[in-house]
Amino acid sequence: MHVVGAGTMGAAIAHCIAIAGMRTVLIDVLESALDRARGRIARDERLLRLSQRRAMADAISPGDRIGTTTDAGALKDARFVIECVPEKIGLKEALYSQIDALCAGDAILATATSAIPIERIATWTRRPNRVIGLHFMNPAQWKDSVEVIRGQATSDSTWDLAMRFLQLLGKRVIEAPDGPGFVINRVLMPAINDAARLTRAGHCAASTVDRLFKDCVGHRSGPLETADLIGLDTVVDTLDVLHEYEGDEQFRPCEVLVEMVAGGRLGRKSGRGFYEYQEL
Ligand SMILES: NC(=O)c1ccc[n+]([C@@H]2O[C@H](COP(=O)([O-])OP(=O)(O)OC[C@H]3O[C@@H](n4cnc5c(N)ncnc54)[C@H](O)[C@@H]3O)[C@@H](O)[C@H]2O)c1
Repeated sequence: MHVVGAGTMGAAIAHCIAIAGMRTVLIDVLESALDRARGRIARDERLLRLSQRRAMADAISPGDRIGTTTDAGALKDARFVIECVPEKIGLKEALYSQIDALCAGDAILATATSAIPIERIATWTRRPNRVIGLHFMNPAQWKDSVEVIRGQATSDSTWDLAMRFLQLLGKRVIEAPDGPGFVINRVLMPAINDAARLTRAGHCAASTVDRLFKDCVGHRSGPLETADLIGLDTVVDTLDVLHEYEGDEQFRPCEVLVEMVAGGRLGRKSGRGFYEYQEL
């Protein structure tokens, strides 16, 4: 397995694959991102063992099954690629032509995109039948289900291989229709945008918004805690994609989010977002 992009999702998905006993190559353009990914995987492994979601008797540390490299040439050996680079259309488009050229013709290209229709991503390759959307949730090691999206051209054999892969990871599958944001982010992103707007100029504290959703509505996490977990830069990029497709103002990233990202307040990944975090 090859995972491209070693940020929040790439590191977590590589960890899920390693936990399932498979080897992964994690590829990033930045050595510093690979360093951070190794640190996060080691920390998450400790947390999983503490929470007893992982057997204590696993002799091999999953980290040992994850190779890391900045050399995209490693993709020439890939059979199944999971793309996890930032939610920016131009960046992903350029990367897909690179991946498509490097990989064997029958390799599967799965994308972790939060919002770009699979049908569009497929057009950036010469193998639209081998492209599929695997929208893992964050943190992927703790989430049992994956939103899976097939594009118009996705073949049955690609679907079957993806199902087998997710089964090995112990994930349940919920298929969603293709289209901007699929189902989850089509609903979640405008909710986060609205929740962020409410915090403008102290109108409502972030903790109040989140407590209302947790204590009154029964959600496990409030919208602003969720935004911090996703990464506010990823939230803004995802809203930008939705806005580009839908043209609806509800999807335009609100000033609060844009200013926080410009100020380096990216959520958990930077130690500061709507909340402050000791450990990244
Ligand atoms: N963060 C989440 O909660 C979440 C959840 C589901 C899906 N996603 C999706 O997963 C994808 C990745 O999101 P993320 O939050 O992990 O982003 P991130 O910003 O945390 O990490 C992206 C990584 O990609 C690397 N990268 C950039 N260009 C690259 C290239 N050309 N080749 C290799 N690596 C490259 C960056 O250096 C960075 O380490 C996005 O499409 C996002 O929408 C994110």
